Amino acid sequence: MSAEFPVARPRRLRRTAPLRRMVAGTRLHPAELILPMFVKEGIAEPAPVGSMPGVVQHTRESLRKAAHEAAGAGVGGVILFGIPAVKDGRGSGADDPEGIVQLALADLKSEVGDDLVIMADTCLDEYTDHGHCGILTEAGEVDNDLTLERYAAAAVAQARAGAQVIAPSGMMDGQVGAIRAALDADGHAEIPILGYSVKYASAFYGPFREAAECAPQFGDRSAYQQDPAGPIGEAMREIRLDLAEGADAVMVKPALAYLDVIHQVRELVDVPVAAYQVSGEYAMVEAAAANGWIDRDRVIMESLIAIRRAGADLILTYWATEVARRLA
Ligand code: PBG
Repeated sequence: MSAEFPVARPRRLRRTAPLRRMVAGTRLHPAELILPMFVKEGIAEPAPVGSMPGVVQHTRESLRKAAHEAAGAGVGGVILFGIPAVKDGRGSGADDPEGIVQLALADLKSEVGDDLVIMADTCLDEYTDHGHCGILTEAGEVDNDLTLERYAAAAVAQARAGAQVIAPSGMMDGQVGAIRAALDADGHAEIPILGYSVKYASAFYGPFREAAECAPQFGDRSAYQQDPAGPIGEAMREIRLDLAEGADAVMVKPALAYLDVIHQVRELVDVPVAAYQVSGEYAMVEAAAANGWIDRDRVIMESLIAIRRAGADLILTYWATEVARRLA
C-alpha cells in the first residue's frame, strides 16, 4: 500500500493559512527590530541616499519624526549614526558634547526614550577626514590603542547625551573593555554594551558609506575588519573576547551572507545575538524590486525570517518601521 500511496504526508500541515500560522517555527516581532538612522549636521531638509531608496540623512527635526513613527510601530530600538559638518584627523565630532550625534541623542532620549531603546554606534569613521575607523600612524595604519582612547571618549559623550546602549563598531582589539571601563568611571555602569563583535570587511557596506559619508580615502578596512574567508574560529574568538571584556550582547554583520556564523554564535553564547542586515542587503532588494524582478515585500520578510531562523534574537534593518507595521 505505502509503496504506491505515501503514509507520511507533510503537506497536511501546510494546507491552509491557519495551519501554517499555527505550526510556524520562526516568528518575527516588532520589538526585536532595530532601526539604523542617520542624522547630518547643517542640512535644512532630509537628504535622500541615492543607493538606498527610502533611506535619508535626517535633520534633527525629521529624525525626531521618524523616531516617533518607529516607536508608534512598536520597533524595539533605533541606532544612531551622526555625520558632522566638519571632519578632522582625530574625529573630534565623535566626542564633542555639541556634536550632531550628541544633540540628536538628547533629542531622542527626551522624546521617545521611554518607548524604545536609544542606541549609539560608537566609531570614528563618520568623523575622520580620512574615513578610517581610528587614529592613523605616520605610516597610515590605524593605531589600535590610540583609537581605544578616542572610542572611550566618544562612548562617554554619547552616554552623557542620553544613549541607552553603546554599540562599538570599529573592530579594534579591546574596544569593549576600554569603553566599559570609561563608562563605569563616568557613572554609567548601568549602560549595556552591544559589541559589533563579528564584523566582516564586506562589500555589502557600499551604500552605507554614501549614507554616512565615510568611505576610506585610501586603502580599505581589511586590517581591522574580519576576512570573509577567515577561519570560523576567529569569529568565535572575537565573541569570547568581547564577552570577557563585558559585552552584554553581541552582533554579527552582515547578516544574509553570514547565516552560518550567526548560527554558530547563537550556539556558543547565552547573551542576546544581534544581526545587522546591512545597506548592501537593503539596496539589492530595493534595486531588483524597482526593476520588477522580485516581489519586494515577500523577499524582505523571507530574508528577515532566514536571519531569525539562523539564530538572531535582534535584527538591525532599514526596513524596521515598515516591517513592524506589517507585523502589527
Ligand atoms: C562603521 C560602520 C559601518 C556600518 C555600520 N557601522 C561601515 C563600515 O564598517 O565600513 C555598515 C552598515 C551598513 O552597511 O548598513 N562605523
